[in-house]
Amino acid sequence: MNRVVGTGMAVQHRGRLPLGCDALPLVGGTLMQARRIAILVSCVVMLLSAGSVAAQGKPKLPLGLDADSAFVPADNPMTPERIALGKKFFWDTRWSSSGTVACVSCHRPEHGWSDPRQFSITFAGKPTPRHSPTIENRLFSDRQLWTGLRPSLEEQALRDSNRTDEMVVKHLGSVPAYQAEFRRVFGTELHPDGVAKAIASYVRTIVSGNSPYDRFRAGEKSALSPAAQRGQVLFAGRARCVACHAGFNFTDEGYRNIGVGMDKADPDLGRYTVTKDEADKGAFKTPTLRDVARRGPYMHDGSEKTLADVVAFYDRGGVKNPWLSQDIKPLGLNREEQTDLVAFLHALTGEIDPEVGQPPVLPQ
Ligand code: HEC
Ligand code: HEC
Repeated sequence: MNRVVGTGMAVQHRGRLPLGCDALPLVGGTLMQARRIAILVSCVVMLLSAGSVAAQGKPKLPLGLDADSAFVPADNPMTPERIALGKKFFWDTRWSSSGTVACVSCHRPEHGWSDPRQFSITFAGKPTPRHSPTIENRLFSDRQLWTGLRPSLEEQALRDSNRTDEMVVKHLGSVPAYQAEFRRVFGTELHPDGVAKAIASYVRTIVSGNSPYDRFRAGEKSALSPAAQRGQVLFAGRARCVACHAGFNFTDEGYRNIGVGMDKADPDLGRYTVTKDEADKGAFKTPTLRDVARRGPYMHDGSEKTLADVVAFYDRGGVKNPWLSQDIKPLGLNREEQTDLVAFLHALTGEIDPEVGQPPVLPQ
């Protein structure tokens, strides 16, 4: 399981797929260079449109999202059963040592699957070192976290939950209904790898699309206000946002230094902490901008409260530092242009299948 990505390992572990789905072999080399992992394109489309799946709370892939860009490891197909089980784990606070925190505590459905607090509070009652990012549209990424430290959603769920393996087995494994459900889904005793796989499958269903922007592109000319349309032109033009927030998910999945926090005495060096490459100092992942208006505060340190603050930050040219991206320069936008850009960002607020964010019934 911990070699789900790009080692070739997963090819031997193809899971059972629904009728009509082919498990494509993994493409790509080592863990570090794995950019493309198994892309079960036809399968994702099938799953996302299958009626039985919808009945289980599985969303359709909404307008504007590109199924070809989905990352689903070959050894963890998105079955309705895995998704349903993962959803329960995601919401179950009995997992944490304090019995009070679950994934949903920091990734809140009603707040764009992010956290309104600048920093979240961990199982141990301490603030998280970074702001909790949105976990929407993670289906379209292999690497996870602000620094890309985790090569897959499975690895993220397995390693970042502030727990030992023992605790999963002890806390959730002691619930008989979970034991039974886990056995039905994975055919074995409850174990951490399966828990992580189920959670990853659920997280992949949190997809947002069909925003005014998408509808405008599809021909509904009234979907964007004139201000948002002007903002769109700036976004792709003079404001240079597309240099990084590119493509249908508004991210190139790259890591850039735009200067956030770089004026601190001891700044978070971001991607550098993973690669030890000088050029990565102060670089963080370019986040998706879908649903961005739902989820302030912004940036890896939650330092910008509003979208107007973010746009003003870019207009100033970020924060000067030796590793600042070449694509960050003072923009010279006037007040109306800044307002237009914010209007465009609001037009990226889309729809997520409401079923996905409904609390599940947890076993007692
Ligand atoms: C105490 C708060 C907290 C809890 C609980 C929590 N997270 Fe997170 N999550 C964070 C923070 C903070 C980050 C960013 C960490 C970093 O990048 O260094 C994050 C990052 C992520 C990411 C990466 C998103 C991206 O854009 O790369 C995913 C996926 C994720 N969490 C899923 C989960 C899942 C699944 C659980 C439950 C197993 C969970 N989180 C529990 C706070 C939390
Ligand atoms: C050089 C690449 C680059 C360019 C150009 C760029 N961004 Fe970003 N953007 C990033 C990165 C990287 C982050 C995260 C930085 C961090 O947290 O340290 C980010 C974060 C954001 C966020 C916060 C999202 C969140 O979930 O916290 C918003 C909003 C945003 N950018 C909008 C814009 C807009 C609008 C423009 C154009 C004016 C723009 N960006 C130009 C790379 C870029």
